[in-house]
Amino acid sequence: MAKDRIVSATEQVEDAPASGTETPRSMRPTHLDGFTGQAALRQRLRIALDAASQRNEPMEHLLLHGPPGLGKTTLAHVVANEMESRVFVTSGPALTRGSDLVGTLTRMQPGDILFIDEIHRLPVSVEEYIYPAMEDFKIDFTLDSGMHAKVVTYQLKPFTLIGATTRAGLLTSALRSRFGISHRLDYYEVEELESILERAMGQMELSAITPDARVRIAERSRGTPRICLRLLRRVRDFAQVRNAGRIDAAAVTDALELEGVDELGLDALDRAYLRTIQKIYKGGPVGLEAIAATMGEDSGTLEDLVEPYLLQIGHLARTRQGRQLTEAATAWLDGQS
Ligand SMILES: Nc1ncnc2c1ncn2[C@@H]1O[C@H](COP(=O)(O)OP(=O)(O)OP(=O)(O)O)[C@@H](O)[C@H]1O
Ligand SMILES: [Mg+2]
Repeated sequence: MAKDRIVSATEQVEDAPASGTETPRSMRPTHLDGFTGQAALRQRLRIALDAASQRNEPMEHLLLHGPPGLGKTTLAHVVANEMESRVFVTSGPALTRGSDLVGTLTRMQPGDILFIDEIHRLPVSVEEYIYPAMEDFKIDFTLDSGMHAKVVTYQLKPFTLIGATTRAGLLTSALRSRFGISHRLDYYEVEELESILERAMGQMELSAITPDARVRIAERSRGTPRICLRLLRRVRDFAQVRNAGRIDAAAVTDALELEGVDELGLDALDRAYLRTIQKIYKGGPVGLEAIAATMGEDSGTLEDLVEPYLLQIGHLARTRQGRQLTEAATAWLDGQS
């Protein structure tokens, strides 16, 4: 399944090795200082947090958007730790009616955080329900029904809403505009991923990694910490069984070759996609449906899971006539065979 690819940025079962649905807390940075990369965002958050604490108020509502696996959920918990407050976690699809939030909102203490993941999937009715909560820390709810129905306004404690989404474009502008801070997370640089690896190595109590092995893992991680940590675990297993625990450059290459991951972080599906355009369609331009039909793949899968990274690294161009390989892609493919 395309979803279970080792280079997929979306969360998989193996990303949460110990228990539960989340990566063990201990593997995640808990404070802003321990959070690597996203320098601009870290600065904005530091200022917002300090300003809020000087005024003795909760931080402004925060919207984090960007591709999966870049640290949105992690940051929500980081902000909670920095504010020394609790975080109540829910998600867009889990909320069907405004009243689903009443219990949580009324239980929250000043400065607590409400984290809504996948906030683009919030139903309209819930969205409208939280506007007054966001703006004036107030909610209305109806007591009784029919003739005796009575609308009661409830004053909430000041709180911070943190919303996360991979699809910011799907948010209504009304909702977007109610966040004081909105920030898009970017892909990480290789050096940033290297420091994330270094930190993870410490936590996994691994010591034997050579610097070039670290670079090699980072380069194959598609700019994404989640993929980076997943590759590290595979490499660690390989090194333990085949290389006396030593993680060197050769071990990385061999381990990831077994997983079908090459030096750009591409896997078999990515390569099949590129080769289809090159061999069958002479480099393009060609429509996505034609590529999908040739490969016997679902076009949605290709569009969501294969194309974004190829576009990002400049191997693919999307033109009005269809998909087209770039010169870089052609050169790279020619170098491969
Ligand atoms: N800056 C970072 N430093 C260290 N580890 C990080 C960083 N960013 C992300 N991670 C790690 O990467 C993994 C994925 O992060 P997280 O779950 O926060 O991503 P996300 O943006 O919420 O993804 P999704 O969109 O799928 O919900 C976690 O294991 C987290 O610890
Ligand atoms: Mg998340």
